[in-house]
Amino acid sequence: VKGRASWRGRKVLVTSGATREHLDPVRFLSNASSGRMGHALAAAARARGARVTLVTGAAEVPPPKGVRVVPVGSAREMLAACLKALPGMDAVVAAAAVGDFRPASPSARKIKKTGKPLTLKLVPNPDVIAAISARKKKGRPLTVGFALETHDLLDNAREKLAKKNLDLVVANGPESLRGETTKAMLLAKNGGVAFYTGAKTGLAERIFDVLGESL
Ligand code: CTP
Repeated sequence: VKGRASWRGRKVLVTSGATREHLDPVRFLSNASSGRMGHALAAAARARGARVTLVTGAAEVPPPKGVRVVPVGSAREMLAACLKALPGMDAVVAAAAVGDFRPASPSARKIKKTGKPLTLKLVPNPDVIAAISARKKKGRPLTVGFALETHDLLDNAREKLAKKNLDLVVANGPESLRGETTKAMLLAKNGGVAFYTGAKTGLAERIFDVLGESL
């Protein structure tokens, strides 16, 4: 396969895992991402001979061997780490589940209970993959995003592809979040559509096969 050989020596950035947005020093808002998809992507790119940087939030599985790992906490830390690693990247694959919101004013001290209701004000986080796509020069790096949809999969995926200026969007359902297997639709900028059902490791291979055709 042409797409397979073309990754040797290429630079690939993968985001993975769940971000954490602190309310106070001991509490945070996060999500159920396991990090499996991102880590499978990093391993697949590495196995093809790419130089891989994995910017990862919290994950249940260890990162693969042979990749540069940059651990991060919040969405803003993830963005900063990605922008720092970005120069020279050929492709960026965003598998992280990034929190869309963070507490507006996190407390420096542990929040004490008072018996009264507590209202949290949340403010929007930056979109990491959209910020990376906005920095494309001559179409590089290629960017891939995931779309977790419960309805109107194709329409929502198309919209995400355009809005975030992606080269490929991988759309799946919420059942994909934690398990080792997944059911996904791959939608490319050039209009190509493919379907995949199986292990996340196989989906990772498929993503680099498809993306390799555009390198
Ligand atoms: N993403 C990101 N930074 C964010 C949010 C999402 O980089 N702040 C990336 C994710 O890594 C993923 C894709 O964007 O690749 C998911 O997009 P998002 O719009 O968050 O998808 P959903 O949560 O599925 O969308 P929505 O909230 O529109 O339903």
